[in-house]
Amino acid sequence: MTLKKSLLIGCGSYLPQRIVTNDELSKTVDTSDEWITKRTGIKQRHIAADGETTSDLAVNAGRDALTRAGMTVDDIDLIIVATTTPDDTFPSTATKVQAKLGMEHGAAFDIQAVCAGFIYALATADNFIKAGQARAVLVIGAETFSRILDWEDRTTCVLFGDGAGAIVLRAAEGDETESNFGVMSTHLHSDGRHRDVLYVDGGPSSSQTVGHVRMAGQEVFRHAVSKLSGVIDEALSANGLDSSTVDWLIPHQANSRIIKSMAQKMKLPEEKVVSTIDRHANTSAASVPLALTEAVIDGRVKNGDLVLFEAIGGGLVWGAGLVRIGAP
Ligand code: COA
Repeated sequence: MTLKKSLLIGCGSYLPQRIVTNDELSKTVDTSDEWITKRTGIKQRHIAADGETTSDLAVNAGRDALTRAGMTVDDIDLIIVATTTPDDTFPSTATKVQAKLGMEHGAAFDIQAVCAGFIYALATADNFIKAGQARAVLVIGAETFSRILDWEDRTTCVLFGDGAGAIVLRAAEGDETESNFGVMSTHLHSDGRHRDVLYVDGGPSSSQTVGHVRMAGQEVFRHAVSKLSGVIDEALSANGLDSSTVDWLIPHQANSRIIKSMAQKMKLPEEKVVSTIDRHANTSAASVPLALTEAVIDGRVKNGDLVLFEAIGGGLVWGAGLVRIGAP
């Protein structure tokens, strides 16, 4: 059986209206714009309005991606939502998104891989298409991380924001199959032994609470640099590529120092790295598709560009994906 191939043919995003700057945050938290900027590169974050849920953000990003792909929900047969902050413990946020989009066919499910959620969802969607089980997939990363932050813990609450990003993958057809466009490969990893460096201290089965984010920042930083560097090498060598062939590094936006260190490792100039951390902060599963969409809208990422996505999150889980954007 010849495996099918998936093309990334559209992306979209949504950010809640309210912006909270470092200065505003420092009025309620013992921190400063100087500390946050120097250690992380973050200047501000978007925060969802009261009553605005992850599925609301996801629907807006999903619609935007469908429009840019020139598609409607009728063309989609699977919705995958990567999120750590679902509206409810169940049903899945993806089924809520499905209903809000007016889609009455196909399937929808959530993926939980925290900040690597988008890479996990991309890999899953790609494999559904490769196996012929889906024709077109709406992949959304959406988070209201502000709801699981301890706003009295300055070591974590300054780092995150809310938002959603989405892409549309569809099966290549005819001559497209022979082209070099589309998802070239995805690479997923996890190591559950490192659970305690980044976790939420609650859950339905453990404490019957939602819990708050807890993190050993320096440990996470150390793991991020080594594991992301390893998975970038893996993605390039799996395709026999040198990092100089990559047009854009679109990394998870957790810390500008981690992003810079990955760019240096790949010997990529700063202009080839898409960074939104200053304005979005860490939006977990939403950060990579948010960054991609920004760079597509402002004209940096063009049809045919080779893009490397990477991300790491609590678990630990991490991964990368190499994609030639668009269609021939
Ligand atoms: N404002 C002011 N001071 C703060 C602060 C804040 N928001 N947060 C921590 N501090 C203080 C600490 O209390 C500590 O003070 P002390 O020296 O008096 O004990 C000092 O700043 C240094 O803290 P430290 O944790 O050593 O800072 P750091 O250089 O490691 O930076 C992070 C902290 C969180 C920015 C950094 O470790 C990091 O980015 N880690 C990776 C996080 C990440 O990527 N998470 C998401 C993965 S998906």
